[in-house]
Amino acid sequence: MKKIQKPKICVVLGTRPEIIKLSPIFSELKRKKIRYNLIHTGQHYSLKMDKIFFADLRIPEPHYLLGIGPGTHGRQTGTILMRIEKIFLKDKPDIVLVEGDTNSVFATALAASKLKIKVGHIEAGLRSFDREMPEEVNRILTDHVSDFLFAPTEISKKNLITEGIDKRKIFVTGNTIVDATIENIKIAEKKSKILTDLLISNKTYFLVTLHRVENVDNKNRLKEIISAIRELCRTHLVIFPIHPRTTKRIKEFNLSKPIKRIKNLKIIEPLGYLDFLKLERNARLVLTDSGGIQEETCILNIPCVTIRENTERPETVSVKSNIIVGWKSVDIINGVYKMLKKKRTWKQPFGNGKAAKKIVDIISKVALSLTLPLP
Ligand code: UD1
Ligand code: UDP
Repeated sequence: MKKIQKPKICVVLGTRPEIIKLSPIFSELKRKKIRYNLIHTGQHYSLKMDKIFFADLRIPEPHYLLGIGPGTHGRQTGTILMRIEKIFLKDKPDIVLVEGDTNSVFATALAASKLKIKVGHIEAGLRSFDREMPEEVNRILTDHVSDFLFAPTEISKKNLITEGIDKRKIFVTGNTIVDATIENIKIAEKKSKILTDLLISNKTYFLVTLHRVENVDNKNRLKEIISAIRELCRTHLVIFPIHPRTTKRIKEFNLSKPIKRIKNLKIIEPLGYLDFLKLERNARLVLTDSGGIQEETCILNIPCVTIRENTERPETVSVKSNIIVGWKSVDIINGVYKMLKKKRTWKQPFGNGKAAKKIVDIISKVALSLTLPLP
């Protein structure tokens, strides 16, 4: 009998959240003994934004490094397109897997689809309905050139159907962040010494993260958000692992001195995944503009205050683990006190922690029949 050929899979990532959310996919591919090529675009490249996650999440070294680094949207997208096309032409993968909404994701999906390589988009169908966000543009464009759309929830599936995407391409799988959180929280609780290192104890502090362009590239907004943090620091300890974009803007806007003067505020470097999960799990409340952290707090049962005007994760608001407060100081503070009073009785809506298994099952069965002639 002729052996059925397995599809040639290529996985592409470029930034911190992609490494984290793809980690369960790598574990599943390994468990099933499915070979793949891994390409890293190098959009994130610092030790604390990149390599630390490969170590924490036990991910093998990439086969290819594109080394694109920082730059404008055009430069990042264009450089990835040119460099990844060469690899695709040489390796001829049957399916390329991407996760999320970054420039790395869209550029990869575009390059693959032009070469008629199937694209599998993990975390398809998220919509903030705000085209001012670069990520919203990346999401929409990626979904429309994808062949397999792995939607985390029924809401994301509905968004795709509303945009006219063929139902047969959409698979509701849950979000791989649940798989990653469940798998790593136990390891983090055991291994991470972050609470001791920072001399803090369980449930005594708020955790803050901030990196969204619309917040940190706008001096007025950034000042308002800092003013809210200053106010919260009157009564609470605030831990702020700071994203490199935010560090850069704080310097550019001459805000370093006023921030340093805030008592009870601990600004630290970005953390590895295990340290961050431990800090998140033990926080009294989290303030953030991150996408992934809105999901993780919901999973970890920690109240979340989102410093944005909208969200592509409305499920977290519906289950009441999250509140969207905008960027004005007074609204942020009111949001914090509102969330502190709430009972933590929600049920997380992002699946049962088996998203990676579902996705790998689909690409190894359905993709095969679509991309390769059967014997
Ligand atoms: C990118 C994604 C965003 C995602 C975020 C995750 C796009 C358009 N944006 O935003 O959707 O939420 O990643 O964190 O794709 N920098 C470093 N070291 C690094 C990485 C970045 O110093 O390892 C600095 C550079 O100065 C760079 C800036 O941070 O210019 C911004 O990096 P970039 O990847 O362009 O965008 P992010 O804000 O990280
Ligand atoms: N994260 C981390 N260390 C940090 C801050 C965040 O490991 O110092 C993790 C966090 O657990 C989450 C992910 O990074 O899984 C979110 O990434 P980010 O906020 O950069 O991007 P987004 O999700 O907004 O695209």
